[in-house]
Amino acid sequence: MSNLHIRHLHLVDFRTYSSVDIDLPAGPIALAGANGMGKTNIIEAIGYLSTLSSHRVASDAPLVRQGAAAARIAAEVVRDDRALTVEIDIVPGSSNKARINNAPTQRAREILGIVRTVMFAPEDLSIVKGDPSDRRRMLDDLIVQRNPRMAGVRADYDRVLRQRNALLKSAQGARRANAEAVDATLAVWDEQLIEHGTQIMMARNAAIDALAPLAATDYARIAPASAELGMRYVTTIGDDPITDDASTSSRLAEAIGNRRKDELDRGVTLVGPHRDELQLTIGDLAVKGYASHGESWSVALALRLGTYDLLDAEQSTPILILDDVFAELDSARRRHLAQRVASAPQVFITAAVAQDVPTQVAATWFDVSRSDDDADHSGTGSVTQRG
Ligand SMILES: Nc1ncnc2c1ncn2[C@@H]1O[C@H](COP(=O)(O)OP(=O)(O)OP(=O)(O)O)[C@@H](O)[C@H]1O
Ligand SMILES: [Mg+2]
Repeated sequence: MSNLHIRHLHLVDFRTYSSVDIDLPAGPIALAGANGMGKTNIIEAIGYLSTLSSHRVASDAPLVRQGAAAARIAAEVVRDDRALTVEIDIVPGSSNKARINNAPTQRAREILGIVRTVMFAPEDLSIVKGDPSDRRRMLDDLIVQRNPRMAGVRADYDRVLRQRNALLKSAQGARRANAEAVDATLAVWDEQLIEHGTQIMMARNAAIDALAPLAATDYARIAPASAELGMRYVTTIGDDPITDDASTSSRLAEAIGNRRKDELDRGVTLVGPHRDELQLTIGDLAVKGYASHGESWSVALALRLGTYDLLDAEQSTPILILDDVFAELDSARRRHLAQRVASAPQVFITAAVAQDVPTQVAATWFDVSRSDDDADHSGTGSVTQRG
């Protein structure tokens, strides 16, 4: 059995931490401390090792401690009883430098896959309540976790889409005179859009098929009195189910042909996975617009726990991260989550109010705080194990 956990975490100039070293056990870990003490900063650092991005901010600058030039996150990871170290230096405005067992890697993204996490954070409410782009991002995170090669396909698709949109925009003004030239160039972009777009749609469709039953089961356990959670993939190529590469790419080509005139009129690409939607329902009702706050929260949690179950079944058990989750749940939902968490190989839980974390979790507790003694009064963070 593959058993992944972080044994030691070392941060330098990351958010509130000028320098901190934390020895970590396997099993459930609870980080306690008042608001603003630096709990989420810790799990954000762990998430960064796993995805090379923050779940809170799009740029790296806020991650670096005020006044410092670079941040470092280093972890000693135990995998299948073998230890290895993974480190990343975050240098805003320059490329990140990574090391595995002290040896520099060519690209930072070579460390992807070493620390594997599934995180549930308050920001995830946007998966349920936010724009379609929030749900697409969730799906794309999942397709990359299932197959890291998809990160490159996504980047290729985004590049083609940008260039195709630029061409459509410029063609808007150009009119008839060079219509033939526009058609010829568009045909090149169409071909690439179809090629990469087909791969993304196939991967999203497979991910939804795999995730839907697991998320529905998790939702039924979290909210036993509720109707069933449903997930449906809505695309720009019609209502028929996605089946294979060949039919998906020919349907995509057909849809592009049908919308050509609209695209030239409006100067944007109207067909393709950048317009996909993941429809979430409880019973017959859409979650967005109908579900209560607690229900929406439970749906988002079920999607993340379903993802955890999926990666557990398909690959190996990831590290589970739960930021501020228990405070939002009623007591039945807390009990269910506590059960799940108690058996996880390693799980990080943050809580501003320790009593919100049920005792069944049997966590190792850490106190997170900030000293107030440095010159600029911003304080430096510390994390100490209780007892
Ligand atoms: N780059 C930075 N340099 C210095 N301090 C920072 C930096 N980024 C964030 N902070 C500080 O970190 C604090 C927030 O830390 P964090 O989000 O971990 O708090 P928390 O313990 O999770 O609180 P809550 O219980 O409210 O969620 C804020 O006070 C913020 O000012
Ligand atoms: Mg927090």
